[in-house]
Amino acid sequence: MKAMIIEQYGEADQFRLEDVPLPSIHDGEVLVNVYAAGVNPVDWKIREGHLQRIYPYAFPLIIGCDVAGVVVKVGPGVKKYKVGDAVYGFKNLAQLGGYAEFVKFNENDLARKPDSLSFVEAASVPVVGLAAWQIMMVHGGGIKPGDRVFIQGGAGGVGSFAVQLAKSMDAYVITTASKQNQTFLKELGADEVIDYREHDFSTVISSVDILLDTIGGDALDRSYDLVKKGGKLLSIVERPNKDKAAKLQIHTHFIPETESNGKMLEEISLFYKYGKLKPVVEHIFPFAQAAEAHRLSETKHTRGKIVLELFQTSPLST
Ligand SMILES: NC(=O)c1ccc[n+]([C@@H]2O[C@H](COP(=O)([O-])OP(=O)(O)OC[C@H]3O[C@@H](n4cnc5c(N)ncnc54)[C@H](OP(=O)(O)O)[C@@H]3O)[C@@H](O)[C@H]2O)c1
Repeated sequence: MKAMIIEQYGEADQFRLEDVPLPSIHDGEVLVNVYAAGVNPVDWKIREGHLQRIYPYAFPLIIGCDVAGVVVKVGPGVKKYKVGDAVYGFKNLAQLGGYAEFVKFNENDLARKPDSLSFVEAASVPVVGLAAWQIMMVHGGGIKPGDRVFIQGGAGGVGSFAVQLAKSMDAYVITTASKQNQTFLKELGADEVIDYREHDFSTVISSVDILLDTIGGDALDRSYDLVKKGGKLLSIVERPNKDKAAKLQIHTHFIPETESNGKMLEEISLFYKYGKLKPVVEHIFPFAQAAEAHRLSETKHTRGKIVLELFQTSPLST
């Protein structure tokens, strides 16, 4: 099969499209023919070697976590899927392998692709959807109607999902973005969009029930005082300071890494099925242009998601 590999850590020009062996599947696993692969910041962080102390990856390495495609083979004991099923899922950071024609999945890490989403749209969802879901709905304990929710960085992959998720729960949603993304976020449902380049958000926001930080650093430092007593400061990028939070009597939650979870993805699928969420794919690249897709993601100013398209139509032969 064809795969986009790297032989060593480095810049985006490390990518090479090569023939590699087809993954062999075992108990409980299925082989998925990848139609589209989502691009996430963690992909280029891995490519640059930032995760090598946590995950000593072997080379050649196939990067890529977000996948949508069709099941072409099922291993012994597989109960949920059969050949021909359209699926999507998150290959966790220990596994990766998404930038390839075929990838194997444990069946429990997959969900059925919602009919209302194309393969490209479905590939944009797993990482950002599961990250936002896990930090806000699981660790953060959920969102209640009327909650004031502030999402740092609403225009990005996680932010654009989180804004819609909070809005679908009838929260009052405040977010930050630069000038070119103000209208986009209003259209996604945000009640207030603050241009963080023009205004110091910490002087115009107060008393939020839930704050989700997708930026970190200075943005996180200036966030603590905005959360009301008993409220929640949630982060997917940096562990909040517990002492600072304790003094303010606010709760903190941090997820260093998203969990792969097919059941949760099925719950997210329902939001797409019932039109509560819409996918935000702003850039589609042919598979061969993975390097260009990474360079774009590295700017940290893309809107919504970037997706690599492998095949436009189904089905492929193995
Ligand atoms: N812990 C986990 O499990 C987990 C999971 C997923 C992602 N993450 C991490 O979360 C971060 C966000 O991920 P992502 O996929 O959403 O990234 P992304 O799509 O690359 O985010 C890009 C967005 O960030 C916005 N942005 C940049 N600087 C900003 C600032 N100072 N204030 C407000 N917005 C700003 C940009 O908006 P403008 O162009 O309008 O500035 C742009 O739309 C990344 O660091 C990623 O690695 C962690």
